Amino acid sequence: MEILDGKKVSNDIKNEITIEVDKMKSRGEKVPHLAAIIVGSDGASLTYVGSKVKACERVGFESTLVKMPSTTSEVELLHKIEDLNEDDAIDGFIVQLPLPPQIDTQKILMAIDPDKDVDGFHPTNFGKMALDMSTFIPATPFGILELLERYEVDTKGKHTVVIGRSHIVGRPMSILMGRRGWPGNSTVTLTHSHTKNITQIISQADIVITALGTPNFLKAEMVKDDAVIIDVGITRVTDDTRERGYRIVGDVDFENVSKKASYITPVPGGVGPMTIAMLLKNTLLARERHKLNI
Ligand code: GUN
Repeated sequence: MEILDGKKVSNDIKNEITIEVDKMKSRGEKVPHLAAIIVGSDGASLTYVGSKVKACERVGFESTLVKMPSTTSEVELLHKIEDLNEDDAIDGFIVQLPLPPQIDTQKILMAIDPDKDVDGFHPTNFGKMALDMSTFIPATPFGILELLERYEVDTKGKHTVVIGRSHIVGRPMSILMGRRGWPGNSTVTLTHSHTKNITQIISQADIVITALGTPNFLKAEMVKDDAVIIDVGITRVTDDTRERGYRIVGDVDFENVSKKASYITPVPGGVGPMTIAMLLKNTLLARERHKLNI
């Protein structure tokens, strides 16, 4: 069994990006600038956005954090998005999800200029991804592809079972694993809450990608020997022994599943850090495209 070490790989990627940024600086060029909008004060969302801003500093990007109250109206948020769309100093930006209930998420995502949509959530970019066109790939699926590639995991002709059909992870992941090329060329089954015989389907998987948010859902007896296991779950579970009062738990019973797996991502330290590294990669791409006006 080999650990797919997202912490290490994401550090490698950040170092590679830092080198690119240093080159930009030495040429006297503008460095990439990422902005993030957060609406409300959800603890987990604030932590994630904080990590994204910190990661920008680490690689030498500029960053702007826009905090808006939980009472923000849809119109107010749309105005803010318009400001960022028109601000030539900003290369890319994200709106952290989830949004408060008074705001229509799809309407917000559609208001983002696709050229600045470094999350890859705009329908234009999602469509381009599905059609194998060059675009921003959503950071979490992009991070999983990068892990598979750097560890040279064979995906061709394999049966990949994706658990969960969210727009952020499961749905794009199912498209990407079935695309021509590598990582890809998998035969994909996308499972969800209405899937019948899910246990039987999982037992036939060469690669399992679980993005459910149910702690310890995937047990050793459910997976095939030598399966590749990718755990996207990041549930906060109360833990009084920790100073912060919680710990992060994945969808996979790591202790037992790891004994059967050929490759497995830990939680924390697997997919999570990769998401941030790939957002930086998308922002670098946005800067390069912006510079060339493409
Ligand atoms: N909420 C959870 N994951 C993400 C992400 O990748 N991007 C944004 N904008 N919000 C999220």
